[in-house]
Amino acid sequence: MTILGIETSCDETSAAVVRDGKLLSNATVVQLVHSEHGGVVPELASRAHQKLIVPIVDEALRKASMDKIDLDAIAAVHGPGLIGSILVGLSFGKAMAMGLGIPFIGVNHMEAHIFSNLIDDPKPSFPFVNLTVSGGHTQLVFVEDYFQYELLGETMDDAAGEAFDKVAKMLGIGYPGGPLVDKLAAKGNAKAVNFPRPYLEEGSHEFSFSGIKTSVLYYLRKVGFDKAANRNEQFIADVCASFQAAVVDVLLDKLLMAAKKYNVKDVAVSGGVSANSELRRRLKAETKIHHLNIFIPKLDFCTDNGAMVAAAGYERLRHGFESSLELTAEPNLQLR
Ligand code: KG4
Ligand code: ZN
Repeated sequence: MTILGIETSCDETSAAVVRDGKLLSNATVVQLVHSEHGGVVPELASRAHQKLIVPIVDEALRKASMDKIDLDAIAAVHGPGLIGSILVGLSFGKAMAMGLGIPFIGVNHMEAHIFSNLIDDPKPSFPFVNLTVSGGHTQLVFVEDYFQYELLGETMDDAAGEAFDKVAKMLGIGYPGGPLVDKLAAKGNAKAVNFPRPYLEEGSHEFSFSGIKTSVLYYLRKVGFDKAANRNEQFIADVCASFQAAVVDVLLDKLLMAAKKYNVKDVAVSGGVSANSELRRRLKAETKIHHLNIFIPKLDFCTDNGAMVAAAGYERLRHGFESSLELTAEPNLQLR
C-alpha cells in the first residue's frame, strides 16, 4: 500500500510517500516570503502553496522513485490551520485522488503531529502521553490506541511556539523566532532573570504562556531595552536563555505529571518547539530519572511536514478509513 501525504496547513508546503508503513520520501519547502513581515501572512501563504504544491508533490514522488499511478491513496490535512492554506493542499489532494480513482483520506493536523513519532522505529507503545508544542497549539494528549485520543489539556492563551516568536520580536532578533531564541540561548545564562512559571492550579494539565511573555516585556521596559539600539548580545542571550528555561520547566513538569497520573511508560513530544535543543536535552535527562521512554521526532519531522501526514493517512487507510470527496477545510478542527 503506497500513500502520498500532503501538508499545507500553515507556511510549509510538504509532501511525502509512505509504502507499507515505511517512509520513502519527504519534500518540504519552508516559505521564505514571511520573514520580512515578521510572521506568517495568510494570503501570502496560500499563494505560495499554489505555486509550490505541484513541484513538491513531484519531488516527493521522484525521491521515492514512484509514479503517481503507483499510489493507492492520498492523504491531506483538512484542519486545523489557515483556511486558504489548507484549501490548497486539500483541494489538490482530493482532485488527484479523484483523477486517479483512489481513496482520499483527510487528516487532522494535530493527529499528524502525534504521528511524527510513529514514522520510524523505535515507536512509542500504546498507551502513551504526547505533548504537541507548535506555533499554533500546545496540547497534552493521552494516546490510548490508534485514533483514540483524550485531550488532557491545552493552552488557554498563546501557544508555546507563538510565545517564542513574540519574545524574539520584542528582542528584535528576527523571524522565525523559535530557532533564533534557541541559538542565542545557548550563549546565555538561564538564571539571569527569574521569569514566572505559570503552573495554574494544582494538578492542572492546562498551559498559559502569555504571562511569561508579558513578564519578558515588562522586564525589557524596566531595564529600558530599545530593540533598535541595543546590540548587547550577552544581554539578549541571557533573556533568551531565561525565557526558554521558564517555558521548558513548565512543559516538562506537565508532561511528567501526566505520565505519572496516566501510568504510562512511554512519553512523546512533537511540533515545531520539539526542535528546541534545551527542551530535547532536558526531556532526555529528566525522563531517564523517572524511568520513562522518551520519543522526540527527528528535526525534519518536528516542524510541519508531509511525512507525518502520510504516516497518519497510512494507518487510517490500514484501519479501513476513507474520507468523502466532499470533505471541507476546517480551520478550527478539534482532535477527536
Ligand atoms: O509545528 P510547526 O512547524 O507549525 C505549527 O503547526 O504551528 O511549529 C512552528 C513553531 C514556530 O512558532 C517556531 O518558532 C517554533 O515552532 N520552533 C521553535 C524551534 N524551531 C521551531 N521553537 C523553539 N525552539 C526551536 N528550535
Ligand atoms: Zn504544525
